[in-house]
Parts: sequence; C-alpha cells; structure tokens
Amino acid sequence: PGSRPGDGARARGAAVRPRRLRRTAALRSMVREVRLSPEQLIQPCFVHPAGIPPEPVESMPGVMRWPVDRVEQAASEALEAGVQAVLLFGIPASKDPRGSGADDPEGVVQQAVRRLKQRLPELVVITDVCLCEYTEHGHCGILRERRGQVEVDNDATLPRLAATALSHARAGADVVAPSAMMDGQVAAIREALDAEGYEDVAIMGYSAKFASAFYGPFREAAGSAPAFGDRRAYQMDPPNAREALREVDLDLAQGADIVMVKPALAYLDVLRQLRDRTTVPLAAYNVSGEYAMVEAAAARGWIDRRPIVLEMLTSMARAGADLIITYYASQAARWLREG
Ligand code: PBG
Ligand code: ZN
Repeated sequence: PGSRPGDGARARGAAVRPRRLRRTAALRSMVREVRLSPEQLIQPCFVHPAGIPPEPVESMPGVMRWPVDRVEQAASEALEAGVQAVLLFGIPASKDPRGSGADDPEGVVQQAVRRLKQRLPELVVITDVCLCEYTEHGHCGILRERRGQVEVDNDATLPRLAATALSHARAGADVVAPSAMMDGQVAAIREALDAEGYEDVAIMGYSAKFASAFYGPFREAAGSAPAFGDRRAYQMDPPNAREALREVDLDLAQGADIVMVKPALAYLDVLRQLRDRTTVPLAAYNVSGEYAMVEAAAARGWIDRRPIVLEMLTSMARAGADLIITYYASQAARWLREG
C-alpha cells in the first residue's frame, strides 16, 4: 500500500495506544477507576404533617413531600433500590421566630424518624439540623438587631441547633447533619449529644456550604426561602476554596465524622482539594437546582436523563466524594443495578 498523509503516526512508532483498553466493554470495565454504587447514595426526603396527602414539588418533578404517616413509602423505595440512607427535611405545620418546631419531640422529623426506625430498622436515618424550615422569617437561626441591622445571632442559635439535634437523636436518628453554617455548631451538637449518652450518634457537617443560587427549588419545596435578605452573612462566599478547607478543619476539630461540600457540580474543585487533604469520609450534595436543570432539559428532550445523571454522579465520585446526596438516589440505584 502506498503511504498516505497521516501514516506518520505508525512510522513515528505510536507504541502507546490508550485505545487498546477501550476496545470492548469488558476491557473498559476492567480499567475503570471509579465505580458508583447504590450504597454510597443518600436519598433526601421531605416530610410534612400526617393527614396531608403527598404533594409533588413543582420545581422538582418526581420529588414529593411525604406525610409522616406514609414516609416509609419513600424510604422503602430507596431500600429496595439498594440505597441505605435517607436524609430527612421537615415541613412543619406552623412556624415562629425561634423555630420551635425544629426541636419539638412531636415535630414532623421526630415522628418520621421514630416511624422509620420502627418499620425499617436497617435504614440509616440522617436528619438535617437547621431552623430555616421552622422560622417564620426563613433564616437558619435566631435574629437580633445590631448596628441598626437585623442579623442572625450565631451564639443564640447554637443551643437551638443542639436541642434540635438532640431531639432527633432521642427519636432514633443515626446521623445528624447541621446545615445552618453557624460557627461552633458541630461542637455545640457534639456536646449536647454526649451529655445525654448519644456518643454513638454521628455528625455529618455541611462544612463547606456555599451561599448558592442552586438552592432555589429546595426552598420552594420546604417553604424555607428567607423572608428578607439572603444567607450570604452565614453561608460561604462562592469564590472561596481555601476557606472551605478551613471550614472543614474547624468541623473536624469539633468532632464531625463526615464532612460535606454543597452544592456539588459547581464545586468539584473544592471536593478534590479536600479529598487530597483529609482522610475522613467526604460527602457531596447534588442539590435541588442541579436536579431541576436536568429535569427541565430532559422534559424538553434536549438531554437524555439517565446518562446525564450517571455522568454527573460519577464526576462527584471521581472528584473524591465517598457519599453522594442526590434526589436521584433511588432512581440512580435502579439504573446501576440494571447495568
Ligand atoms: C437548610 C438546607 C438547605 C438545603 C439543605 N439544607 C437550604 C438552604 O440553605 O437554603 C439545600 C438543599 C438543596 O438545594 O437541595 N439550611
Ligand atoms: Zn437553614
């Protein structure tokens, strides 16, 4: 055969040919570096008072608010798919300035935890610990006035968060997950848990939680949008990766067992930096806005949901996440099992 332009590749001796190991599905799977598995996924679950019918969340097609007396439906769907853990968020019957519903022993989350532990004892029950779903102003803590401005009072909020976490532990939670971004919240919770004999309840800190526009659909789902202002004075400034490392160090020093980066997709660099620096389990939160974007485009036929979701979740694992909190958990677990 006569030589053609391009033959030089062989002539120059392309001895290294990465394509050799991409040739068949078996070869590709043998050299795959990261594998998603259902056991690493966590299914968030919105719980509202018993007696109210299940309600679809408009901005998150496929996501429901579940009444306490039917919450095991969502949880057993997760378990059947191979997902071992749920993360509970409460939508209380009423709200007030101090978020009294958050630590009410008869609150929605406390009731849901008791019910789930009773009916599905093997399920890992994780609870979100914050006040924003329970305060009428929608902020994550107690308010005060300073310098003529209303602000969230860090230290007055800590006992409220500690009481909330304790009430979840009493109900039977395996893991509590403080998301208020108050300084010292992990220490306050650890201390309260230990003082009551709940040394074995783990803390998953929302350590690097950024003040993100990606939480919009969640706030609609939970009715937790701030009534005024925003969360930028307590959640992290999006450009700051070094500060995220510091937040994680602080949470670990206070006794966090698992640390988290939230949101996930726009912060994969932060996940990677943390993975390279810490040995603790790392979680990524694939948040509501990330879910809503995929759903909106998939509904229009602009993208193919299944490969997009699995590629996104894989990117989180590749960046270093051990655990992934995603509204797709049950669905993705079924896809993974189908292969
Ligand atoms: C409560 C909380 C929020 C999320 C998790 N816990 C909302 C917020 O901080 O406004 C967001 C989850 C999501 O967007 O999926 N503090
Ligand atoms: Zn909050």
